[in-house]
Amino acid sequence: MYSIGVDLGGTKILTGLVDHVGVIYNTVERSTKAEDGPEAVIERIARSIEEVTETVSINEICGIGIGAPGPLDSLTGVVLSPPNLPGWDNIPLRQRIEERFGIPTFLENDANVAALAEHRFGAGRGVDDMVYITVSTGIGAGLILGGRLYGGAGGFAGEIGHIVVDANGRPCVCGNRGCLEAVASGTAIGRKAEQVFNRPVSAKEVAAMAATGNPEARAIFDEAIHYLGMGLVSIVNLFNPSKIVIGGGVSRIGDAMFHPLSRKVKERAFPAPAAMVDIVPAQLGPNSGLLGGAALPLTQQAGSKKAE
Ligand code: BGC
Ligand code: NA
Ligand code: ZN
Repeated sequence: MYSIGVDLGGTKILTGLVDHVGVIYNTVERSTKAEDGPEAVIERIARSIEEVTETVSINEICGIGIGAPGPLDSLTGVVLSPPNLPGWDNIPLRQRIEERFGIPTFLENDANVAALAEHRFGAGRGVDDMVYITVSTGIGAGLILGGRLYGGAGGFAGEIGHIVVDANGRPCVCGNRGCLEAVASGTAIGRKAEQVFNRPVSAKEVAAMAATGNPEARAIFDEAIHYLGMGLVSIVNLFNPSKIVIGGGVSRIGDAMFHPLSRKVKERAFPAPAAMVDIVPAQLGPNSGLLGGAALPLTQQAGSKKAE
């Protein structure tokens, strides 16, 4: 039996045909071109599904799982109005894809599906209590508690990017201010760097400049790591996970990020849970979203249950 995973992002759609042990057979990448609006994007998703399934019969596919930026309602399968998908307001994405293919379809938060994938196939294998965090354009998390994805009352749990780490801080895309995402995401690092250097600078460049000792780059990078560390301190004190798995573009910086994060957690979280947690890089790289999407029909874990 196969399953189809779709990773819908603000910039690209990655779709793959996957089997029950996580082997990926075909993948297709399309740019999202979100500015064309939801209808065009849904059509691109549907075409990408057709392409990856060309070589198999529809009877061999047990389901489709889509990961998308939140907020979304995983119980009804409706994308609400994510800051990272402008123009999407109450789009019944799950229903649209399910009707088109006649195959059970699931919709879940992008960080939640990546958490499922890392738990099932990657850095979190065999771990019952782990938090996956993605640090990229936005910051999101998926909570695996007691071996299961924790969705909360309505499936909205895990929005770590929008915990407030600076009460009067910078405005966030969500409308609040001082959110972790507003001070520590790739977007936030880039925006700060642009102000300081008077030209567009990516988060990756800032990290590279910081590594060679550029003092301004160091300060920008240190500030982002500091706030991210404070976010992790809260996670450790709240959930006592045995692993925190960090993925997303910014995490590719590597040790220069993981060492200070581990140090901050040791310094600022309660000593007992701090001593139990390993803070490690994600293992599945850019495929975590589609693998986690594909895992949804296999584990039936969308949100925590699917609406009847
Ligand atoms: C959204 C999350 C998402 C994260 C990464 C945040 O802005 O609120 O739902 O997981 O970005 O895409
Ligand atoms: Na999440
Ligand atoms: Zn926010």
